[in-house]
Amino acid sequence: MQVYLVGGAVRDELLGLPAHERDWVVVGSTPEELQRGGYRAVGREFPVFLHPDTGEEYALARLERKTGPGYRGFETRFSPEVTLEQDLQRRDLTINAMARSPDGRLIDPYGGRHDLEQRLLRHVSPAFVEDPVRVLRVARFAARLCALGFRLAPETRELMRFMVSSGEINALVPERVWREMQRALGEADPAVFLDILEDCGALAILLPELNWDEAARKALQRAAAPALATTEVPAAARVSAAARVSAAHSAIDGSVRFAALLAGTALERITALCERLRVPNDYRELALLTARLQPRIAHAGTLDAAATLELLEAADAFRRPDRFQLLLRAALARSDLDDAARTARAAALAAALAAAAAVALPHDQLTQLNGPAIAATYRSARLERLEALQSELRKS
Ligand code: CTP
Repeated sequence: MQVYLVGGAVRDELLGLPAHERDWVVVGSTPEELQRGGYRAVGREFPVFLHPDTGEEYALARLERKTGPGYRGFETRFSPEVTLEQDLQRRDLTINAMARSPDGRLIDPYGGRHDLEQRLLRHVSPAFVEDPVRVLRVARFAARLCALGFRLAPETRELMRFMVSSGEINALVPERVWREMQRALGEADPAVFLDILEDCGALAILLPELNWDEAARKALQRAAAPALATTEVPAAARVSAAARVSAAHSAIDGSVRFAALLAGTALERITALCERLRVPNDYRELALLTARLQPRIAHAGTLDAAATLELLEAADAFRRPDRFQLLLRAALARSDLDDAARTARAAALAAALAAAAAVALPHDQLTQLNGPAIAATYRSARLERLEALQSELRKS
């Protein structure tokens, strides 16, 4: 049997990107031979095995044939006769369809290296259209690689449009859409993911709640309503601003980017989107809170002490200070605020929270009060503290 390194690891090594999870293809072998060698079978739909020592994935070279709609309608054929070239041909993009042999030779039958040099995301074969997840994958790779100058090949763009207009895209299940979207939010330029989906018509189908938001923005621009246009921040601009103030590939920062993206969307639409895609609770809570509170957070500098306290309470900031920090980042990720304005608002609210949270009532006083009275006493003490803070700031 022969073993080849394939897919993302070969692509990323050629791009000089950090080491990647490694996938291997095994040619000229059988499941029985691999199991005798101590490999553990894990694939349900096709033959994938884990290496006994490294735990890396080894897949038998295979052919795939479309037999029905959707990404489940595949027939997989594997046998020792399937060649490496055939296995590479069923893959999505040429840059993902290269292999490295044990002696270090690059095997590149579909021009992946050339496309890497030309910075092109190009499909390998017309079989690309058989797997609708690829529309999302290509948009996600564009979000990751566009900073390196990558763009979509025109013929691949056409195929993606065809996959939308032919209805193939409708076969995607919500879990797959969310999984790709969540990963795309963690990429260097998540707005590119949305751009590409909008361009091929998939956004309106896969994320209709969001598309409405974009359509509304365009309608506003068309109507040339400058007063509204200055306060309306497009979803794509918000997620780009969020990407600048958050880390890539972090689940927590992913929730900040998701919330920033939806900050101008109606609450019912956010709820509908989250239910449909089964978005995890922490993402959903932060998105709803951000959409509710971001207009007030954007005006943090002009709120009086009572309004500031109300905002801190509505954000549950006393009990959840860490989430409050995430909320500030998401709500302030607006392209109409420069870095200085963003930092000033975040600092004003962080200082207000610190001051109000430091209020401690004497033990004797607390023991004489019931629950609601304790809350009211805290409230007025916090209000007093915030008023004092504001008057100190006015003096300085
Ligand atoms: N692949 C494909 N079509 C899919 C999924 C995967 O052709 N729908 C192929 C590609 O050749 C890809 C390889 O399987 O390179 C491994 O897939 P995966 O691990 O999902 O992606 P990577 O390319 O390794 O990228 P990432 O850096 O996002 O993990």
